[in-house]
Amino acid sequence: MIEVKNVCFSRADGSQTHTILNALNLSVPKAEHMALLGDSGSGKTTLLHLLAGLLQPDSGAVKVNGQELTRLNEHELAFYRRKIGLIFQHYQLLECLTVKQNIMFQHKLNFPTQNADEFDQLVDALGLAHKLSALPHQLSGGEQQRVGIARALLHHPHLVLADEPTGNLDLKRSHQVVQLLTELCRERQINLIMVTHSHQLSEYFQNVKTLKDGQLD
Ligand SMILES: Nc1ncnc2c1ncn2[C@@H]1O[C@H](COP(=O)(O)OP(=O)(O)OP(=O)(O)O)[C@@H](O)[C@H]1O
Ligand SMILES: [Mg+2]
Repeated sequence: MIEVKNVCFSRADGSQTHTILNALNLSVPKAEHMALLGDSGSGKTTLLHLLAGLLQPDSGAVKVNGQELTRLNEHELAFYRRKIGLIFQHYQLLECLTVKQNIMFQHKLNFPTQNADEFDQLVDALGLAHKLSALPHQLSGGEQQRVGIARALLHHPHLVLADEPTGNLDLKRSHQVVQLLTELCRERQINLIMVTHSHQLSEYFQNVKTLKDGQLD
């Protein structure tokens, strides 16, 4: 459950202050999925970073699963971030680590062995079982993004934030990746917010919002 109330966020731009989010409100019920559209520079990534606890608003409230992020100290925020799954456009995989090591990276390469079944199920669902020893450069873009999804989901996040996860993929692979991502989040009852520029891909989502002039439609 996400509740954003009257959030303002601005950035200093030389001597001027540039308002990015202007009294923005958003409510996403528990386990619901939302697609976030908006022009380049409209503040989509900024909003995801506020929800991830990576940025703090100038004013207003950001509440996720009952926790008011503006009231958390650094230690509590670090703990909160461990329950967020982040997926990026450029995958952000570590080139010197294998697929398996990249997926387990959040667990410091030490995923508890009693959860081995869960790991196997996830990599199976994502069609990565036969690629676990490969290095990222040996994978296609779609495969690399599926590694990004596995890495984001393995640690049981409450909320997955995906920032243009299909930005580097062709249409067919984009559909596959979004279908998998939405299915896996639905099975696990995870809130998902996905930034996309594609109206076609937004059709996988119950809830579609557009960011414009610092507010959501
Ligand atoms: N670190 C920063 N310092 C100063 N300004 C920034 C910084 N990051 C982003 N901005 C500005 O904030 C505004 C919103 O940026 P943001 O990255 O949230 O947009 P976006 O909607 O994600 O765009 P895109 O679709 O291109 O990814 C832009 O005008 C951008 O130039
Ligand atoms: Mg962005």
